[in-house]
Amino acid sequence: MQLTPTPEDRFTFGLWTVGWTARDPFGDATRPPLDPVTAVHKLAELGAYGVTFHDDDLIPFGASDEVRDQHIARFRKALDETGLAVPMVTTNLFLHPVFRDGGFTSNDREVRRFALRKVLRNIDLGAELGATTYVLWGGREGAESDAAKDVRVALDRYREGLDILCQYVIDQGYDMRFAIEPKPNEPRGDILLPTVGHALAFINGLAHPERVGVNPEVGHEQMAGLNFVHGIAQALWHGKLFHIDLNGQRGIKYDQDLVFGHGDLLNAFFLVDLLEFGGLNGGRAYEGSRQFDYKPLRTEDMAGVWASAAANMRTYLSLKERARQWRADPEVAEALAASRVDQLAVPTLNPGESYQDLLADRSAFEEFDPDAAAQRGYGFVRLNQLAVDHLLGFRG
Ligand code: GCO
Ligand code: MN
Ligand code: MN
Repeated sequence: MQLTPTPEDRFTFGLWTVGWTARDPFGDATRPPLDPVTAVHKLAELGAYGVTFHDDDLIPFGASDEVRDQHIARFRKALDETGLAVPMVTTNLFLHPVFRDGGFTSNDREVRRFALRKVLRNIDLGAELGATTYVLWGGREGAESDAAKDVRVALDRYREGLDILCQYVIDQGYDMRFAIEPKPNEPRGDILLPTVGHALAFINGLAHPERVGVNPEVGHEQMAGLNFVHGIAQALWHGKLFHIDLNGQRGIKYDQDLVFGHGDLLNAFFLVDLLEFGGLNGGRAYEGSRQFDYKPLRTEDMAGVWASAAANMRTYLSLKERARQWRADPEVAEALAASRVDQLAVPTLNPGESYQDLLADRSAFEEFDPDAAAQRGYGFVRLNQLAVDHLLGFRG
């Protein structure tokens, strides 16, 4: 079993993940700030493919042009030394108090104009570093009071912002697409575009929908009680899975950002199976980065941070191996067929058959015996248990 990550696995980490100093609403930082250059070297050593960042992770907010250039130069040098890629970049529109009511959808127009400028500036940097995905996580785009935000006009402003960004990258000739990251709440009481489904519907109303997709995060869908595998499958179905944030979450509570697999492990197993083997002829269903967006537990020291970074990749690779074995197991194949999982791929009407033909087909209705058909069980529990057995290492 190959559990040592290599760049071909396309694992990436945000600078803000391993670099989190573990300050939370109740306590001070438990770890020192991490130099992005150290992060790049350490992640490369661990076998990562790339690193991603918010503008402010790399360049302190408000830095002069000269200081900004110095930070970028040091970072670039580390990238060159290690071969680490920057496939994605994003913007911090949540930390500075100016964004207390959001960026693109703040009620304050001057703040909205500032937010757009901040994003446009970082898009240029991302393009320079070779990033082809730009993530938009609107953590502060929301409200606590229904009186505070006119949601329909907030969505108008969100769309206006996205349309401007798309036009900008088109005019600049950048090979860059946008990925909206949904989240139901936290830090706002209610965040706009709270789930994958909301984001997908919103994208349809944009001027350049082909430029915009989603960046779902495991914990964010699970915070809303939703099935992450279903959300990812639907995003793939729409051709909109532009990026993914992997982590762990244990139920409907605050955003835990645990290590991947340290939440709902069975759902993580089916997720890896879908991403790695759910494509045509059992190939990859998604080719982009496998990004870990997690927070090393506040209890950990720096050694624990690096152990947790490695744990994300190890879990992913173990699940990939288990999924491979699950797919190769003849009993699983037989159980899938017995559950008629394959039959769902057969169109409900025959080739060339019309609804008139269906209406004329007596076997479909008049002669169909629903009570007899209702007797047939589906065997889904057996199927699920085979997955559990594989996951626990009792088969394969
Ligand atoms: C969260 C989010 C953030 C975003 C990141 C990108 O945990 O609420 O995942 O970490 O992904 O800020 O903008
Ligand atoms: Mn999160
Ligand atoms: Mn995220």
